[in-house]
Amino acid sequence: MPGERTSALEKARRCALAAFDCLTREGGRIIRRMARVFEKWTVLPHGPIEKLTENLWRVEGTMPDPNIRRVMTIARMKDGRLVIHNGVALEDRLMSEIEQFGTPAVIVVPNGFHRQDAKIYKDRYPAAAVYAPSAAVKKVAEIVPVSGDYTQAPKDDTVQLLHLEGCKGTEGVLEVKSQDGTTLVFNDVIFNIPKRRGLFGFLLAPTGKPAVPRVSRWMLLKNKPAFVDHVNRMATPDVRRVILSHGSMLTEQPGETLKRVVAEA
Ligand SMILES: [Fe+2]
Repeated sequence: MPGERTSALEKARRCALAAFDCLTREGGRIIRRMARVFEKWTVLPHGPIEKLTENLWRVEGTMPDPNIRRVMTIARMKDGRLVIHNGVALEDRLMSEIEQFGTPAVIVVPNGFHRQDAKIYKDRYPAAAVYAPSAAVKKVAEIVPVSGDYTQAPKDDTVQLLHLEGCKGTEGVLEVKSQDGTTLVFNDVIFNIPKRRGLFGFLLAPTGKPAVPRVSRWMLLKNKPAFVDHVNRMATPDVRRVILSHGSMLTEQPGETLKRVVAEA
């Protein structure tokens, strides 16, 4: 029955939404809880600030559920302005270090499920402007003023934000050009996390390798051929590394790896 198919699809979509936004683990059980949007500067366990090249830094941190890891990327434009993608709160000493890199000017909230630190970053850097993919602007604007979507964000010939084709404005890419090549920063559309089992393993499958997770195929890919074509066009030999908001970077033949990942999506 068409109605039953719709209902099953809706259940799957709700489950997928939960995986992105509000599932957590408590007492060995997976429960549903809204992802917290921090009101006060809250530093969770995280790794060091990794300097990748002359205008690019990466930090891997955790969420309130330490099983969920996330990555902040910081890129510096030629005029010294910093673009902070998926901001993660760090200790004052490390924030001072970031301010030595340049001036925090652009706060990128890479989709509506990545708002946790958006307000506290805006509070800390009120002169910085917030940008989000077009389909996420409304949800992000619920918690912090948004200056525009990715097409309106500041850019130069080394740092720019792009909407991903085939995703209807739900996801984008930060592209950074450096002396050692191009870096592409993806958010939820590609993961590279260790093997997971259970419900998370099912929703994020395939895990244990770089891949487009099942939940992203359901929620983000609106036109797969257009998405694949766009990623293939970006995956040039000049790509030096791919940063992902969840999981390890792609550094070995990153362009070819990207092509394989989207071909398998
Ligand atoms: Fe995510």
